[in-house]
Amino acid sequence: MKFTIFALALASTLVPAIYGSPATSGTDFTCEDQQVVSTSYIGEAQNVKSEIVTCSNTPKAPTSLVSQAVPVNVCGATCTTNCFTPSGGGPDPNDCQVIADALLYDSQNVGALFNITAATSGVVMQYQSCETFFIDQASYNLTYCRTDWSSLVNYIAFNCQATQNAHGGNCVASDQTWFVQVQTST
Ligand SMILES: *[C@@H]1O[C@H](CO)[C@@H](O)[C@H](O)[C@H]1NC(C)=O
Ligand SMILES: *[C@@H]1O[C@H](CO)[C@@H](O)[C@H](O)[C@H]1NC(C)=O
Repeated sequence: MKFTIFALALASTLVPAIYGSPATSGTDFTCEDQQVVSTSYIGEAQNVKSEIVTCSNTPKAPTSLVSQAVPVNVCGATCTTNCFTPSGGGPDPNDCQVIADALLYDSQNVGALFNITAATSGVVMQYQSCETFFIDQASYNLTYCRTDWSSLVNYIAFNCQATQNAHGGNCVASDQTWFVQVQTST
């Protein structure tokens, strides 16, 4: 199941806006040689683990993209959702919802935006069976919205389940510079 969604629209409606072409990198990403740069706990209950990580295999965007002096704000950018087949072994979407709620809480209490340094691969969050990545595939820093990530976690978790012959999925930015993945905790 593949379709294009507008993350910003999702924040209010949770409904895909446009059906589109498949992403070119809709494959299940595994962070190899994961190094944790820092760890914190987020949400009202401080029970969602949030780690800034580096991976040895972070896919990088085409080098033709020039580096930017200031972080590029990708809030509301479109991405294409891919469910990972087959069914079985996916995260409990209710655990993913705890992460989504924690992101909403932090959006209101910490800040709407967060920066991802290109020197790292991105951020991984985990609560019980559910894990979600935000991966920076660009060679420059990005800024993203916690509400957008929250919406994507909920959307992917509840729409890429066993009933869809899936076990999680991702949403890959149209320009390939970032993606959000939802999967079972490793
Ligand atoms: C990205 O952000 C880091 C940390 O804030 C900073 O040290 C670095 O210079 C930034 N990179 C660019 C290309 O702006
Ligand atoms: C992101 O980085 C820019 C440039 O360093 C900085 O001005 C801004 O305050 C940072 N935003 C957040 C949410 O940390």
